[in-house]
Amino acid sequence: MTPPNAILHGGYHHALSRSWQAERTLTKDMLMYPMFITDDPEAFDTIDSLPGQYRIGINKLNDFIAPLVKKGLKSVILFGVPLKEGVKDATGTRADDPEGPTILAIQLLRKNFPDLFVACDVCLCEYTSHGHCGVLREDGTLNNDLSIKRIAEVAVNYAKAGAQCVAPSDMMDGRIRAIKEGLMESGYAHKVMLISYSAKFAGSWYGPFRDAANSAPAFGDRRCYQLPANARRLARRAIKRDMEEGADCIMVKPGMPYLDIVREASEIASDYPISVYQVSGEYAMLYQSAKAGVFDLKSIVLESMTGFIRAGATLILTYYTPDLLTWLDEDR
Ligand code: PBG
Ligand code: ZN
Repeated sequence: MTPPNAILHGGYHHALSRSWQAERTLTKDMLMYPMFITDDPEAFDTIDSLPGQYRIGINKLNDFIAPLVKKGLKSVILFGVPLKEGVKDATGTRADDPEGPTILAIQLLRKNFPDLFVACDVCLCEYTSHGHCGVLREDGTLNNDLSIKRIAEVAVNYAKAGAQCVAPSDMMDGRIRAIKEGLMESGYAHKVMLISYSAKFAGSWYGPFRDAANSAPAFGDRRCYQLPANARRLARRAIKRDMEEGADCIMVKPGMPYLDIVREASEIASDYPISVYQVSGEYAMLYQSAKAGVFDLKSIVLESMTGFIRAGATLILTYYTPDLLTWLDEDR
């Protein structure tokens, strides 16, 4: 006979008792929506590789966000996408252009949606002519010192424009300290959260994003600054370093293929919020598979969220946020 303590089914026969098996469950306030803001004020452009997502101009932003806020959207993360001729240069001068899409969007969102938490991705690749995430030396390799100086300046200018959170995705060494010190010197450190993309891995998952953001490198790749896919131990070192340097939250990216790293992060940084970025390639993969009839979109996306939370995430960046706001109101 099966021994009594081997009988597990009784403990999760009912839907309610199944819900009690979770340590935490998904709520709307755990979602942060990544958005692309472009420099044609009237733009509302679809993105072939990211169906359902848009490159939005400043004049279209209010009407796009208003219904989402009504449905319970609590936070966004902004990516500036300059598409006009002649905007890009070797050092990413226009990243913090006061008339550029990112700063205008921060100001508009803060003014029109006072309860929305506005985070800003900080990177140079959307603004550099070579498409790399930092400033380069003559031989095409990174100049880390110049890069973090520039990245810290940009982060401080996003904070001054009203961003409540800055999240550097460039993967330069020492950027967290440089930004935190910049925020301290300018008097913003007490009210701006610093999320570090500490464990950001190089690979193929960012393809649709680079289409959307027009930020693919003109030569080479990002493997000398983003982490190698095999590098669990390097990720641990990066997380520890960024905690030391003053990060307020640790991010793991991509999400689904790196759940082991989410778990690691939640253990190493057990006193920090842990964020995970379900990136563009993950979004597109689930979308296209569901479209091909492989599985039901709502079920598979909700299951992916459960995986993130089970692994230890407390904040999830996902392009599925608008759908999830609807799905979380429905029966599951
Ligand atoms: C830019 C940046 C990237 C992403 C976020 N910030 C692309 C990259 O590093 O090449 C990827 C996001 C996604 O794929 O959804 N540094
Ligand atoms: Zn970049």
